Amino acid sequence: VLHIHPPFEIDDDRYRIDFGAVRSWLGSTYWSPGVSMEDVARAASGSAVVVGAYLGGRQCGYLRVVSDRATFAWLADVFVAPEHRGRGLATAMVEFALEHPDLRGLRRWMLATKDAHALYASVGFQPVTDPQNLMILRPGRRVEPAE
Ligand SMILES: CC(C)(COP(=O)(O)OP(=O)(O)OC[C@H]1O[C@@H](n2cnc3c(N)ncnc32)[C@H](O)[C@@H]1OP(=O)(O)O)[C@@H](O)C(=O)NCCC(=O)NCCS
Repeated sequence: VLHIHPPFEIDDDRYRIDFGAVRSWLGSTYWSPGVSMEDVARAASGSAVVVGAYLGGRQCGYLRVVSDRATFAWLADVFVAPEHRGRGLATAMVEFALEHPDLRGLRRWMLATKDAHALYASVGFQPVTDPQNLMILRPGRRVEPAE
C-alpha cells in the first residue's frame, strides 16, 4: 500500500526501509537507547506492518505495528526525522497504520508513550481507564517495592 501525503510518500513496503537511518534514530530514543541493528531488523521482520515515510526517496519517518492481524495491535517505534517534524507526518503515518487493510476490524490497539499523548489522542487513542486490569513483565528487572 502506497499513500501520498504531500510532499511525503507513506509506504508499507518493508524492503524499502533504510534500516541504517532507522537504527540511528531509534538508538537515540528514550525507549531503545543504543539499540542494535540486529534487534531493529528482527523487530521489523517480526512485526505485522512496517511503515516508512519518504521525501525524494529519503527515509524521513518510521513506525511498526506488532499484531495478530485479527484482534489486537501494539503501535511501536514511531519516529519522524527532526527536520520533518511539526507538519503532521507522524499523524499521517499513524492514520495509515490504523487504516491498513491487514489491520482492519481489530478490537484493541495499544501503545506506550512518555510525552506524545496529544499525537495519539488526535486519532482516537485514550488513556486506559482500567490500568488495574493491565500487567507488565520486564524480564531481568527486579521488582522494586512500592514507594
Ligand atoms: C513524536 C513525533 C513522532 C511527532 O512527529 P510529528 O510528525 O512532528 O507529529 P505531527 O506533526 O503529526 O504532530 C501531531 C501532534 O502530536 C503532538 N506532538 C508532536 N510531537 C510531540 C512531542 N514531542 N511531544 C508532545 N506532543 C507532540 C502535537 O500535539 C501535534 O499536534 P499539533 O501539530 O496540532 O501541535 C516526533 O516528534 C518524534 O519522532 N519524536 C521523537 C520520537 C518520539 O518521541 N516518538 C513517539 C514515541 S511514543
